[in-house]
Amino acid sequence: MNDSPPRRGDVEFAGQVNSMFDRISGVYDRMNRVMTAGLDRTWRRKAIDRAEIGAGDRVLDLCCGTGDLAIEAAGRAGPAGEVTGADFSEPMLEIARGKPPAEGHAPVTWVNADALDLPFPDHSFDAVTIGFGARNLADLDRGLDEMRRVLKPGGRLVILEITQPRRQPLKGFFALWFDRLVPLIGRVAGDSAAYSYLPDSVRTFADALADRLVAAGFDRVRWTVMAGGIIAIHSGVA
Ligand SMILES: C[S@@+](CC[C@H](N)C(=O)[O-])C[C@H]1O[C@@H](n2cnc3c(N)ncnc32)[C@H](O)[C@@H]1O
Repeated sequence: MNDSPPRRGDVEFAGQVNSMFDRISGVYDRMNRVMTAGLDRTWRRKAIDRAEIGAGDRVLDLCCGTGDLAIEAAGRAGPAGEVTGADFSEPMLEIARGKPPAEGHAPVTWVNADALDLPFPDHSFDAVTIGFGARNLADLDRGLDEMRRVLKPGGRLVILEITQPRRQPLKGFFALWFDRLVPLIGRVAGDSAAYSYLPDSVRTFADALADRLVAAGFDRVRWTVMAGGIIAIHSGVA
């Protein structure tokens, strides 16, 4: 097992991220529930609210991992809709494929694809969502260009991400939780490198994501924070 967390700037960054998620796929859902005290479900619901997914929509969930955000989207798109979950980690996709389809949901297709080089034609989707994935992209601007390319004109992009609170007391709590407890929980779960990478990647993730969305050509860009400033939802229209 590789003991060092992926480092942005390494030529091998994308490969390191890929193999890290391959490794932790089996504990990923449980770790999410523990680390967020179950709140991740609420955050996903709010992100999908922002995407304004309606019955019959075609939705792409990028960096879908074990599939929970795509599944939430499938509930909104309904049986007439179509949801595609895309990720480059086959073990994460395998867990998503193992989740039983729910009644009244859009069918979900799970695709192994790189978010930086999407295998979909231009203007294919009404909405693109990405949950806790944008921070992991080796080239965020290229990823945003791809997201805009595959969206129909007027299609919505929603990015759900962890962010760093700027004000006390959450700022202090975040430092304790992310810098001390998360790596410790990761050690107990058997992958300290993966769970040291998590706080590092949050810190280095561009603060100015909204500016990057504007630069990528998105309109009506806005963002809101939740959970005391720990979680951000950014959105824009193609
Ligand atoms: C933290 S997980 C998020 C999973 C899921 N969206 C969720 O909400 O729980 C990040 C996912 O992004 C995927 N990923 C990172 N870079 C990627 C890329 N360039 N193309 C496709 N998937 C990527 C990883 O394999 C991993 O499954």
